[in-house]
Amino acid sequence: MTYIFAHRGSSKDCPENTMAAFKKAFEDGADGIELDVQLSKDGVPVIIHDEKLDRTTNTKGNVADFTYEELTKIDAGSWFSKKFGSEHVPSLQMFLEWIAPLPILLNIELKNNVIEYSGLEDKTLQLLHQYGMEKRTVISSFNHYSLVKIRKMNPYIETAPLYSSGIFEPWEYVRAVCSQSAHPNYKSLHPYILEGFKRHNIPIRPYTVNSQKWMAYLFEWGIEAIITDYPIIARNVRNGDGP
Ligand code: G3P
Ligand code: MG
Repeated sequence: MTYIFAHRGSSKDCPENTMAAFKKAFEDGADGIELDVQLSKDGVPVIIHDEKLDRTTNTKGNVADFTYEELTKIDAGSWFSKKFGSEHVPSLQMFLEWIAPLPILLNIELKNNVIEYSGLEDKTLQLLHQYGMEKRTVISSFNHYSLVKIRKMNPYIETAPLYSSGIFEPWEYVRAVCSQSAHPNYKSLHPYILEGFKRHNIPIRPYTVNSQKWMAYLFEWGIEAIITDYPIIARNVRNGDGP
C-alpha cells in the first residue's frame, strides 16, 4: 500500500506547519506527516517553511533573528483564518511530544538549503532519539551535504534527497549521498524514472501530489508514498472511492 503523507500537515484546511494542521492530518487518517525545520536565533529547532516569518505569521523578519521565546508569542494562524489565531510556530520538541504515542509516520525536511543552520542535523537527531522516533522517521533535504552529514552521525536513520528534476539516474545519486530513498518533484516522474527506481529498489515519496489523476497513477505504480496537501482526497482515490 502506498502511504499518504500530509504536506506541512493538512495544509489546505489549516495553517501549514502548525499543531492544528498536524492534528487535522492525524484526524484525516494520513499515514504520515511532512514538516519543515529551521533553527531559531537561540538554536531551537522550530517548524516553519519560509526563512522569513512574513507569509505565514503576523510578524516580519527572518526566523533566525527571533528567539524561540519570541516565536511562541507570534500568531502563525490568523493569516489563514481568524479562527486559528491561537496557533504559534511550534518547536520540533513540542511536536514530537505530541506525535510520539501516535501510530503515524514522520518526514522531517531540514530547511537548510538557503541558510546553513549550524547544528540543525545534530539537534534534530538528538530529539528523534529522545522521543524514540528514529525507526519511523525519514529525514529529507534539498541540501544533500546535510544528508551526508546525518549519515556520518547516525548510520541507521533513513534519509532522502529532495530534488526537482533532471538528475541523471537518480537511483544512483541516492546512493552517492548515502541515502536510502528519494523525494522527487512528482512532475519529474517519467515512466523511465519510475521504472529505474523500481528496478533498483529505491523507495520514493514524491511531492506535492494534489491532482487525483497523478495520485491514481502513482498508486498504480505501487510507490512507497506520496506527499500531498489533501490526505482525505488521496485516501479516497487510494480506496477507489473517488474524491
Ligand atoms: O518535502 C516535500 C516538500 O515539502 C518539499 O518542498 O518547498 O514544500 O518544502 P517544500
Ligand atoms: Mg517541505
